[in-house]
Amino acid sequence: MPSINDSKCILVIGATAGIGRALAVSLKALPSSPKVIVTGRRQERLDELAKQGFETIKVDIDTDRANLKKFVDNTVRKYPELDSIIFSAGIQHEFDFTKPEEVNVDYIVSELNTNYTGIVTMITYFLPHLLKVASKGQPAFIIPITSGLGIVPGPWVPCYCATKAALHSYSISLNEQLRDTGVHVIEILPPLVESELHDHQGRTPALSKVWMTLDEFTKQTVEGLKRGDSIVASGMAAQGFEKFEKGKAEFAHGAYMNHKKLTASS
Ligand SMILES: NC(=O)c1ccc[n+]([C@@H]2O[C@H](COP(=O)([O-])OP(=O)(O)OC[C@H]3O[C@@H](n4cnc5c(N)ncnc54)[C@H](OP(=O)(O)O)[C@@H]3O)[C@@H](O)[C@H]2O)c1
Repeated sequence: MPSINDSKCILVIGATAGIGRALAVSLKALPSSPKVIVTGRRQERLDELAKQGFETIKVDIDTDRANLKKFVDNTVRKYPELDSIIFSAGIQHEFDFTKPEEVNVDYIVSELNTNYTGIVTMITYFLPHLLKVASKGQPAFIIPITSGLGIVPGPWVPCYCATKAALHSYSISLNEQLRDTGVHVIEILPPLVESELHDHQGRTPALSKVWMTLDEFTKQTVEGLKRGDSIVASGMAAQGFEKFEKGKAEFAHGAYMNHKKLTASS
């Protein structure tokens, strides 16, 4: 089973903090010593990571498609050996729809763009490169990070949950479509984890009482990536997955096969 142990060059989008940075550090230390490229908007964080031997790219993914295309094209030109991409950049906003006049629609759009549309756009632009890499026998990996909240919504962050549910659904379909191409889709499904995600909402002190530590999460996730699991879920997210999602991917596989048969002659 191909796994992250086979990767020679890994790009982590959203690696200046939290989960992305921790995964980047752990994956760089794998015995296979892959090249690890990290991205984010904060230059000073990127400079710190550069000092630790990471390649760095400053990019804001909440942007238009021309900028995303430029980022993707420049990246594959500079790193033709790139075979794996972790999509860790994400944001979260609380919204109270009982006070609609206080709901900031710009935040809704930005959350959707950062957590879903921007990622699907980048995957679309990276795929020609990844398919080429895979056709030469090098396993390639697309690794979206969704959330347990994409399975069981948290009503205080309604739009965030919807973006993660969308990315989860897309990941299942992408995995099916790419099944025979050598490009593997591995979805990481975290529970509440120690990070900076909730800092801007002032929720970190409360949530830190119950979150999974970043060390524990990273350890479990890297183990799953090394096994080559197609879903890497941990903590409460694994429980939610077991209860509400188990069997869905297999069902989607059956539906896809039937659809192919049905439409083969049309
Ligand atoms: N922590 C949790 O409880 C939890 C649970 C489930 C899922 N997740 C998911 O895990 C992923 C990582 O989150 P985290 O908890 O590690 O959050 P974090 O500590 O806030 O880190 C988020 C990362 O995303 C980057 N980022 C955000 N917006 C960006 C943009 N527009 N352009 C480029 N980079 C951007 C940030 O870098 P800059 O600020 O430097 O741009 C940072 O490196 C997210 O997708 C999140 O939804 C987190």
